Amino acid sequence: MTGRFSQVFVGSNHKMYKTNQQTVEYLRALQDLSADISRTDLTLFVLPPYVALADACRAIDPTLIMIGAQNMHWAEQGEFTGEISARMLASIGVRLVMAGHAERRRLFGETDEMVNRRVLASLQHGFQTLICVGETADDKRFGDSKEHIRAQLNTALHGVAEDHWEKIWIAYEPVWAIGEAGELADPLYVNQMHAWIHATLVRVSPQFGGRVPVLYGGSVNLSNSLDFINQPEVDGLFIGRAAWDPVNFCSILHKIMS
Ligand code: PGA
Repeated sequence: MTGRFSQVFVGSNHKMYKTNQQTVEYLRALQDLSADISRTDLTLFVLPPYVALADACRAIDPTLIMIGAQNMHWAEQGEFTGEISARMLASIGVRLVMAGHAERRRLFGETDEMVNRRVLASLQHGFQTLICVGETADDKRFGDSKEHIRAQLNTALHGVAEDHWEKIWIAYEPVWAIGEAGELADPLYVNQMHAWIHATLVRVSPQFGGRVPVLYGGSVNLSNSLDFINQPEVDGLFIGRAAWDPVNFCSILHKIMS
């Protein structure tokens, strides 16, 4: 473990997979299996589907696992059928909100400007705010990766108040490395992109940008987790498939925390 912080940040996005009951069982198992890992060294978070959030918050000790939402609307309330507000999430104990996951951008037309609105609303309500960025395969092929990520960060963070920066985490998830069809990224490439993200954050906020943890996500699993976490610019991991089984997730946690 070589990141820039005294602790590692590790979380899992459950996407549209687990039911309410499966989520609760998963979280109880995860909490038990990870009980021996000091939370001074680790911040652990899980993002269940919306319908499981209330029971998820009740099922866990919030000092051991932080529960987050996979998305959130920016308006306080209103005629936005199917959307969920900050007040709704806060009222059930949710502490973290994710904005801009690659699947939201790719499948649901989410733009950088929409991500920015979500980020500002989330910070305004005091949530830990996880912003996902990452280039597509075409951006990479044409040499536009850094420019793409710079633009994503610039817009997502536009107008963030100075005293809100401490609540921001970034997940770098190259679109071409995520999910079943994902291609495994080279850890050295990931390290370079993290260095670029850190530098961009400092350009956006010279005072606070350097204090933002940057997590890596995209086909992380038990066998490659150390290769990523051992990169000096990688402050944590954001894991999909390999973390959906609590035993496997805890094996990864124990491996990277030992
Ligand atoms: P994966 O998903 O670990 O299954 O590639 C990562 C993500 O989409 O956040």
